[in-house]
This record gives sequence, structure tokens and C-alpha cells, in this order.
Amino acid sequence: MGNPFVEGRVLSPPSTILVIFGASGDLTGRKLVPGCYNLFKDGYLPESFSIVGVSRTPLSDEAFREKLKDGVTKYSRSGIDEEWWKQFSSRIFYQPLDATKEADFIALRERLQRIGGDTIPNYLYYLAVSPSLFGEIAGKLKGADLIETPGGVRETRLIVEKPFGYDLETAQNLASSLYQSAKEEQLYRIDHYLGKETVQNILVFRFANGLFEPIWNRKYVDHIQISVAEDIGVENRGDYFDKAGIVRDFVQNHVFQMLSLLCIEPPNSLSDAEGIRNEKVKVLKSIKRLTPGLVQKHIVRAQYGKGLIKGLDVPAYRDEKGVAKDSTTETYIAMSLEIDNWRWSGVPIFLRVGKRLSKRISEISVHFKQAPLSLFRGRQVESLEQNVLRIQVQPKEGISLRVNSKPPGPRMRVEPVEMDFSYHSSFGIASPEAYERLLLDAMRGEATLFTRQDEIEEAWKILEPVFDSFEELPLYFYEAGSWGPKEAAELLKPYGVRWARL
Ligand SMILES: NC(=O)c1ccc[n+]([C@@H]2O[C@H](COP(=O)([O-])OP(=O)(O)OC[C@H]3O[C@@H](n4cnc5c(N)ncnc54)[C@H](OP(=O)(O)O)[C@@H]3O)[C@@H](O)[C@H]2O)c1
Repeated sequence: MGNPFVEGRVLSPPSTILVIFGASGDLTGRKLVPGCYNLFKDGYLPESFSIVGVSRTPLSDEAFREKLKDGVTKYSRSGIDEEWWKQFSSRIFYQPLDATKEADFIALRERLQRIGGDTIPNYLYYLAVSPSLFGEIAGKLKGADLIETPGGVRETRLIVEKPFGYDLETAQNLASSLYQSAKEEQLYRIDHYLGKETVQNILVFRFANGLFEPIWNRKYVDHIQISVAEDIGVENRGDYFDKAGIVRDFVQNHVFQMLSLLCIEPPNSLSDAEGIRNEKVKVLKSIKRLTPGLVQKHIVRAQYGKGLIKGLDVPAYRDEKGVAKDSTTETYIAMSLEIDNWRWSGVPIFLRVGKRLSKRISEISVHFKQAPLSLFRGRQVESLEQNVLRIQVQPKEGISLRVNSKPPGPRMRVEPVEMDFSYHSSFGIASPEAYERLLLDAMRGEATLFTRQDEIEEAWKILEPVFDSFEELPLYFYEAGSWGPKEAAELLKPYGVRWARL
């Protein structure tokens, strides 16, 4: 089986039927089917590949295809081509199904058998539905003999979407309900940040270059920042978000996933999914727990008020649809953490994540310690900038390194310059969408970019004391369109650093 970090050529997956639960929903139309369309067009899908959409809404195959065509037209990164769409859509089917009705799963089994014909395709179930249905769907699939033991006549796998619980206990309950029908190795918990090229590139960058690994430690790294900024608000998810907040929605999953990849020890091999995941778990386990007394010093929690985004007035969070008028849910969080291990002890890690900020950007920056200043003492060049490695995750994907340099001229001056690598200019092609990569990997049984249950649980454990202290923490407010509350800058002051300019 191919591995994302070592292979040169992408192997086509074995014949597969992708069964999407939640076929009439947003994720299917916006991400999953446009992603499959591009995989098909780029020649990555097997000859024998079909999609079967299931949900309660009564739809014919034809009506379902028409509905999806709109989504592909709007959201496919390569647009839509009539000829390609004709070929692709002939592989799409729809089966009405209520997840609470056993008889519907028997009908699904019969439909899958008819579509598979003489072949024995693998079944990949994508659960794009509320997590409250995960256990029930898995149980009914198992009851209808649609989940097999791994290594059996066909591989059956389930992709599940976040949220993976609301806290440690609910995450464990969710996993237990899935384990009644499927084994951990059949569960593919998707985190679309791990499908992004630059996030995958973290490991290649670290372990395929001789240059960085020797300085990737407390001796040379001054601090690390991870920033995830969105300019959108809660859109039509106010109801869900108001119960979750930004820490559950973003930090527990995307941010901790990026952090753990950035800081892992070299695994035994980059071709072993379990080896990489074991190292990620070790990083999460090493994050110093914030005891309730420490939370105040290490966390700034805030919510957006009204403001201007791209010249347009936007409402305050409490005026968004689905949000309580007196809501105290955070839409912004800034945190400082430390990893208590041999490599990272004493290196502060700053995270900030927020909605309705000035622009949409996600970036990791590694700030290196200063060079000794003695050579320049007494000169204008005394305050040298730190070298900074910036890993841009979105919207632009790339990596840059800030180095100090002398501008031309007779005076000895030092100015920072950026050495830039952008995916687009270096490789000349647009990066595939994260979902494309992840769907393909799940079809191939390649689990490296999916999250294992112990990673989920460790992430919740780190956050438990934070949630326990939320009520005592002040909730600050910031103007929509700004860079967040001014108190976030205060968080960094004791360390003598500032937030990176994004
Ligand atoms: N949308 C995103 O960008 C996004 C991003 C990350 C994670 N997620 C997660 O992905 C999941 C789906 O999100 P979504 O935005 O696509 O939700 P959605 O638009 O609300 O779709 C939910 C789907 O579930 C189906 N459904 C509900 N009850 C059902 C039942 N008893 N039996 C069968 N089907 C049922 C609905 O179809 P019928 O009403 O026709 O049955 C619908 O197709 C959620 O867990 C969400 O948190 C979504």
C-alpha cells in the first residue's frame, strides 16, 4: 500500500463503492462529490468505481445527479466539463435510506450487490451526518452484513467526520458505539487540515532535508506560533457553534494535529502509519497540563462584536442566527503551551484561533533564537530580527524563511528578507483539495493522515482543565475585522515576543 510520505507514484485504489450517508447534505455537494469528480478526471480512481448516495429525501438517480452537478459546477477546483461529467455521473446512484430503519439497510445491501455486479468491490462508507447517528449507522450496517472483518473477502471502512465528541467522555462513548460494529483499523477519522499539502509537507520538510532537523529543538528554537484566522462568522452553523465554541471546533482537532506533526520525534519509518501516529500521541501526552490556577495566565478568551469585513457591516456574534443573545461562547482563543519533553522543554508555543478576524489565513511559524549580537554592538543593526520559518497552510500554500541580509550600499545595514517557496510557482499546478487526498487514501487503506482514537482522547485531556475553568475566565470582546482582543498581545509580553504579522 502506498504511503503519502514516501511514494513517487500514486497507486490507483482497488475497485470501490463509496457510500455517502448524508447524500442530500451540504458536505456531499460542496466537498465530497467535487473532490471525487477531480480525482476521476485526474485518473486516480479505479476503473470500477461508483458512488451511492443515501439519505431520507426521496430522489431518483437522475435527480440526485442533477443536484450534484450544481455543486460540482460551483465548487470543483477545475470547474466542470460536460464530457467528463457525463462519464463520471453515470457512476453515481441514489438510495433513499432512513438510518433508523433496518429494512432500509437490507435494501441498501441489495442495491450495492446489483451495482457491484460480478466484481467484489470494497465498500467505503462516508458518514457525512450528525455524529449522533454514527453508532446507529455502524450497527445497522453490521446487522445487514455490510461491515466485514478486516482482511475478509472485501475491505469495508468507515470515514467519520468531526466533531469527535464534545469532551473526553463523549469522545470515548462515541468510539465505544463504533467499536461495537467496526475495528479501530476500519475507522478513518477525517481532519481536512491533514489533507492540505503544506501540512503533509511538514514531515517531508523536516525529515528529507539535512538542514533543519539538527536545529529543530530547544537549543535553537525560541518559540512557535500557530495562527488560524477566519474572516467568516458562524454562517448557518450558529446553532452548532454556540454549543461548541472555537476550542472544540478548531483547537482540539486541526490545531493540535498541526502541532503534533510539527513537533514529533522522527518515527521509525515514514511509510508506517502507526509509527507516525504513535509519535503524534507522544507529543500530545507531553503537553504540559494547564492546572485550573494556570489557565488564567495562559489563555485569552474572546467573542466578536460587530464590525467591518471587506468594507461590509457584519453583526456581532450574539446577533447571529442560532446564537443566544447572552451567549458566552468564545469565537477567539489565544493560548500558550509547553511540551515537556527532551526536545522542546522550555520552548513556548502560542496558538491563536478566531472567527471574523481581519483575513482568512492559517500559518505556522517557527521563530529561531537570535544570532550573537556582539559583532554589531553599538550600531544601528543591534536589534536584529529573528530568523523565522513560516509554513503557510491557507489560502496560499508555501514555506518561507526570513533571513537577515545586507541591502546594497555603503552603509552596514541589516534588513530581513524572505526566501519564498510557493507551491504554485514551484510546481505550476494548483494543489488538490484536501478532501481529494483523504478520500483517495481511505480507498487505498492508507491511514496516516487520519486521526486515531488515542490522539483524540489525548487532545481532550489537554483541554479538560481549560473547559473546567472557562466560567472563571474573563470573556473579552473584539471588533469584527480586527486581529482579535488586545489582551492577546499581553499574553505574549512576559516572553518578550509579539504575534507574527499575518
Ligand atoms: N459541511 C461542512 O463543511 C462540514 C465540515 C466539517 C464537518 N462536517 C460534519 O459533517 C457532517 C455532515 O455535515 P453537513 O453540513 O453536510 O450536514 P447537513 O447539510 O445538515 O446534512 C445532514 C445529512 O444527514 C442526513 N440525515 C439526517 N438524518 C438522517 C437519517 N435519520 N437517516 C439518513 N440520513 C439522515 C440528511 O439528509 P435527509 O434529511 O435527506 O435524510 C442530510 O443529508 C456533520 O457531522 C458535520 O459536523 C461538515
